[in-house]
Amino acid sequence: MKIGFAGAGAVGCHYGSKLQQAGFDVLLLARGNHLKALQAHGLRHKSENTEISIAISATDKAEDLNTCQVIILCCKMTGLSNMLSTIQPFISPDTLLVTLQNGVEAPDLLRTTFPNNSIAAGSAFIGARIAQPGHIIHSAAGGIRMGLWQTGSGDHYLHTLMEAFQRASVPIRIESDPAAMLWRKLLWNCGFNAITAITRRYAHDTAANHETLIIVEQAMQETVALAQSFGINLGEGDIHKHIHITLSMGPVKTSMWQDIEAGHTTEVDFINGYIARKTEEKQLSATANRFLTTLIHAIEQNHH
Ligand SMILES: NC(=O)c1ccc[n+]([C@@H]2O[C@H](COP(=O)([O-])OP(=O)(O)OC[C@H]3O[C@@H](n4cnc5c(N)ncnc54)[C@H](OP(=O)(O)O)[C@@H]3O)[C@@H](O)[C@H]2O)c1
Repeated sequence: MKIGFAGAGAVGCHYGSKLQQAGFDVLLLARGNHLKALQAHGLRHKSENTEISIAISATDKAEDLNTCQVIILCCKMTGLSNMLSTIQPFISPDTLLVTLQNGVEAPDLLRTTFPNNSIAAGSAFIGARIAQPGHIIHSAAGGIRMGLWQTGSGDHYLHTLMEAFQRASVPIRIESDPAAMLWRKLLWNCGFNAITAITRRYAHDTAANHETLIIVEQAMQETVALAQSFGINLGEGDIHKHIHITLSMGPVKTSMWQDIEAGHTTEVDFINGYIARKTEEKQLSATANRFLTTLIHAIEQNHH
């Protein structure tokens, strides 16, 4: 089985490297200086305090993905639509497609472009970043959870993929309710991701501070209300669990904080912005999520 990573940055290179080290055939679709570095020098991959350099196949030609039985979409949400139209002409209907984006919209976006393919919705529970082109640092956790979103002739690859991750020592769990899984992760991101980027304070400090915790809780309550209106199995108990776990978290820089520091566009429109937009479509308001989205947009505009 050959596994392709479409948009191989931090997440794609980390899992691609793990699978290749476990003996699987891997292809990375990348671009820019990162691709040039991968092709010229291979991948430098630091994980669990060990750094290795490996030769790995990398391309910017979407048609090369047609040799893969499984394709893991691992670009950010901001580039996903463009990625799907780029690869669409080259994907066989027997291919299993897997999403790993934050937010809850990726699997349905795939469904519209690939109405006949098997689609699995996944979440990566990891801290990883591109330190320099061709150089990935994995600094926290690393598990994947996924579940089937749309059935097709490639469903059987899900089991094979699970075994491949196990062989690569990636903690993997198959979810029977992938929508609830995506929403549970979105819940944490709505509460903590934007506010830590705005205040530049770690999530555990944000949770421990009475004033910021009020904003976190309001953003999370709005998320739960929207989820429940869609029939998703999410409740107040999930908010308490997230806050409890966050209080014991180490100093992890959230993705929006990293994006703001690097001058990149964040995924806020797919996190807090999604909750605000979808709630407003129901003629209701999601004040905390709208407020956090507006502040992140304002900070992003400073870069332009
Ligand atoms: N990193 C983490 O620790 C982590 C943890 C959990 C979840 N996630 C989620 O996982 C997803 C991926 O995150 P990430 O941190 O891996 O992002 P990333 O490091 O920015 O990697 C995405 C890569 O895809 C490339 N790309 C985008 N469109 C492309 C195209 N059409 N052709 C070729 N390459 C393309 C990007 O290139 P450019 O830079 O040129 O755009 C970038 O190198 C996000 O939704 C994120 O929220 C990340």
